[in-house]
Amino acid sequence: MANISIGVIGAGLIGRKHIKKIIDHPDFDLAGIADVNRDSISAQYPGISVFKDYKSLLDEARPQAVIIASPNQSHAEIGIECARLGIDMLIEKPVTDTLESAADLLLEVRANNVRTLVGHHRRHHDQVKTLRRLLREGLIGNLVGVSAIWAAYKPDEYFRIAPWRTQPGGGPILINLIHEIDFLRYTAGEILGVSAISSNRQRQFPVEDTTGALLQFDSGCIGTFFASDSAVSPWTTEQGAGEAVEFPFSGESNYRFVGSRGSLEFPTLVHWAQAEGNQNWNEPIRSQRLLASFIDPYHAQLDHFRDVVRGEAESLLTVEDGARTLIATLAVAEAAASGSRIDLHDRYEALAAGKFSPTLQATNPRKAF
Ligand SMILES: NC(=O)c1ccc[n+]([C@@H]2O[C@H](COP(=O)([O-])OP(=O)(O)OC[C@H]3O[C@@H](n4cnc5c(N)ncnc54)[C@H](O)[C@@H]3O)[C@@H](O)[C@H]2O)c1
Repeated sequence: MANISIGVIGAGLIGRKHIKKIIDHPDFDLAGIADVNRDSISAQYPGISVFKDYKSLLDEARPQAVIIASPNQSHAEIGIECARLGIDMLIEKPVTDTLESAADLLLEVRANNVRTLVGHHRRHHDQVKTLRRLLREGLIGNLVGVSAIWAAYKPDEYFRIAPWRTQPGGGPILINLIHEIDFLRYTAGEILGVSAISSNRQRQFPVEDTTGALLQFDSGCIGTFFASDSAVSPWTTEQGAGEAVEFPFSGESNYRFVGSRGSLEFPTLVHWAQAEGNQNWNEPIRSQRLLASFIDPYHAQLDHFRDVVRGEAESLLTVEDGARTLIATLAVAEAAASGSRIDLHDRYEALAAGKFSPTLQATNPRKAF
């Protein structure tokens, strides 16, 4: 079977990671790169066509597929152009920067019938797939709740080199929690409602540094999530799952899924249960660690994208699904700012109908703290 010709738009931190995986992958040929910083990227990739403008890459190199790894604000415009040209796309998260632009992109994707995958790479971990299967098979009975934490201390340098990270939109909700929200939608079910409290007490930036969220799932399961980028802990998915070398491995679980017949920790997949038929708090409870392999989720994501482009697999995460993750994540910030519970049903419906209007979300949420 012929290799897939692929272009990469945006060769920054994550774009360069994708380029390396593509060069090493036997089923893809790198057609070219587009980056507004053409000269410095050309110097890093001798022998590869580098374009300043993504439209030139699309017109001249004519890739069959692209990876869009440019800043969030450009995802919708570039995705719409690719859809109009019939080019399949792996689009980095968040799918777009606003819900209106996500709805616009979705309309074009549907109209042109292109294949899409959104880059929430976490869905491709073996531990995640195993957890999802075990929950669906009923290993722990009815899912009653999920309790989660994501807490890490980001150094001052992180904020100094990119001051936008100190402003609304640059905090742990939209940068980190969005991955966890997507993971929860994939494993525990659709999120129907959100309440939240945020604080900027540690860093005193205009953006939150700490958030507590209450999540209501379509199954009736209740979720609690504590997220902070200003607290030292071993409890992040990155550290627990061994996701990337820049996050030292802790091997600790930061999720507890609790059900009517047992519990599961994630990512360690420790299963807690009592003797069958003895669900009683006076009975002994025992644990067993279940097996799932550690794999490179970015490589697995690329394998999956190959299968999607070839029409051999349904996308694990389409533009519409990615937009639903964005809806639920933005709702956490909005709930904290407004002090109200946010119901998501109408927003999902509006997105699916392509009728998203700014009145469905807070356009200027007041300060959350
Ligand atoms: N899935 C993940 O693990 C993950 C990790 C980091 C970033 N991301 C996402 O990837 C995207 C890029 O993030 P990053 O951290 O690599 O950013 P970055 O700033 O390091 O890189 C962005 C690159 O895009 C280029 N660029 C800017 N505008 C462009 C345009 N119009 N056309 C072509 N190139 C353009 C810049 O010159 C830069 O090289 C963001 O959407 C981010 O949220 C995902």
